[in-house]
Amino acid sequence: MKMNDLVDQLRTRRVDARLGGGQARIDKQHAKGSMTARERIDLLLDKGSFEEFDMFKAHRCRDFGMDEQVFPGDGVVTGHGTVDGRIVYVFAQDFTVLGGSLSETFAEKICKIMDLAMKNGAPVVGLNDSGGARIQEGIESLAGYSEIFQRNVMASGVVPQISAIFGPCAGGAVYSPALTDFVVMVQKKSYMFLTGPKVVKTITHEEVTVEELGGAAMHSSRSGVADYPATSGEDAIAYIRRLLSFLPQNNIETPPVVECTDPGVRESEELNSILPENINAPYDMKEVILHTVDNRDFFEIKENFAPNLIVGFARYNGMSVGIVANQPAHLSGVLDIDSSVKGARFVRFCDCFNIPVVTFVDVPGFLPGTAQEYGGVIRNGAKILYAFAEATIPKITIITRKAYGGAYCVMSSKHLRGDINYSWPGGEIAVMGAKGAVGVLYGREAGKADNPVAFLAEKEKEYQDKVANPYIAAQRGYIDDIIKPSRTRRRIISALKLLQNKRDTNPMKKHGNIPL
Ligand code: HXC
Repeated sequence: MKMNDLVDQLRTRRVDARLGGGQARIDKQHAKGSMTARERIDLLLDKGSFEEFDMFKAHRCRDFGMDEQVFPGDGVVTGHGTVDGRIVYVFAQDFTVLGGSLSETFAEKICKIMDLAMKNGAPVVGLNDSGGARIQEGIESLAGYSEIFQRNVMASGVVPQISAIFGPCAGGAVYSPALTDFVVMVQKKSYMFLTGPKVVKTITHEEVTVEELGGAAMHSSRSGVADYPATSGEDAIAYIRRLLSFLPQNNIETPPVVECTDPGVRESEELNSILPENINAPYDMKEVILHTVDNRDFFEIKENFAPNLIVGFARYNGMSVGIVANQPAHLSGVLDIDSSVKGARFVRFCDCFNIPVVTFVDVPGFLPGTAQEYGGVIRNGAKILYAFAEATIPKITIITRKAYGGAYCVMSSKHLRGDINYSWPGGEIAVMGAKGAVGVLYGREAGKADNPVAFLAEKEKEYQDKVANPYIAAQRGYIDDIIKPSRTRRRIISALKLLQNKRDTNPMKKHGNIPL
């Protein structure tokens, strides 16, 4: 055969492979309002940058009529390309081929790109849309899943791993996304659960819809499995592109620095009056964040899950940071089980990938009560404590108002190797709030006083003046300086510059034993 003919043959084969499960199934996918695997990849990567691997790889199963159902590529499109010019490895499950179900060869394709991503230090993005293990294959597909899980674990903390869920994701298949750093789901189109509603009904007699059991809304607000409930496939992909822009390629790099158009010395007068007069009144910590970061641009993670703690990425003078902040506008910014787990996971991610953490503190303590104690607030609260304590990245802390009790210790305090710790002048660093403290110290005496209310009010003021202020902590050096709120941005930027070459290590060990 002449070369021209061979090239024509290759072209024909490529066209055939690109059709996946065929035009009829592609039309069905579009009719559902969903993109195909290749359309998702095209949207994710810079135009024309995708290079595919294993386009002709086919399964080896010959049972259950599978010899007549051989599709080149076998239901998953894999390869690499760039996002904003930086290399990303990608796999996209193709629902048009046997429902995107995972076979032995399908898993081999994913493993190949995961191995390459690890060797070459670039993120892996998985676009999931699959009916789970390929039923015709059985044990081979279980082995395939396990090979992927093993690589997810090995890649954890080495390269960022991001998963998007566009369709079904059931059975053990949910564990690969769960092992990755971020999970994005599409509202009303994707679901994740171990067993579907039919099995649930048989076993527990519960009547539940797929959406209630494992939809994007549930996972992004209740279980915490998903970081973002995208409004569409397009929105999910835009979220991933933006997320990648804050991250380094691997654990040896530092995050990218972008040009900054927002003056580093910009001051926000509004911050001088953002705290309400009543110390127990709420205010929106997101406003504090927005006033200080570049161009009011804050990329929030897990916005709907445990909103009493805010986490996300932003930039100061073009430098990527992770932000952790108590939110007084929700549950008074208290720490509880969910917020502790949310914060711990985020801080650990930042620590893996050399992303400095800026922590804004206004916390009245840990949430009391039987629900929290029975749920293990001790074990779970210890997670965020552990995460801040083990982190060796630059840690900058701003106490805006309350820093009470154990929550003061936990929230990136000086004692947990906080590098730069500032307080606003209204900071209250104490074992507990004045009201609670006075109740414990003077409750009995108040009962004997002529005017108990006035007595307690006086004692509260005394406690407030003596103890609940930032000056005692500043005298001890637990606070490096007390700063004017309007100057918070410039102080954070200069702290970040100061810490640019920070070197800190933990003792040699196989790995720590974080309370799980
Ligand atoms: C082989 C599958 C498949 C599977 C779907 N298909 N799931 N083929 N193995 N697991 C095929 C269908 O036969 C059909 O083929 C095509 O994909 C589209 O499926 P439909 O059912 O027509 O689509 P839809 O109505 O949208 O329903 C999607 C679905 C449903 C909800 C995913 O197909 C389904 O319930 N599939 C089985 C899910 C499942 O139980 N998987 C195993 C989970 S256990 P044609 O030729 O008609 O296009 C598991 C263990 C993993 O995954 C353990 C890891 C440790």
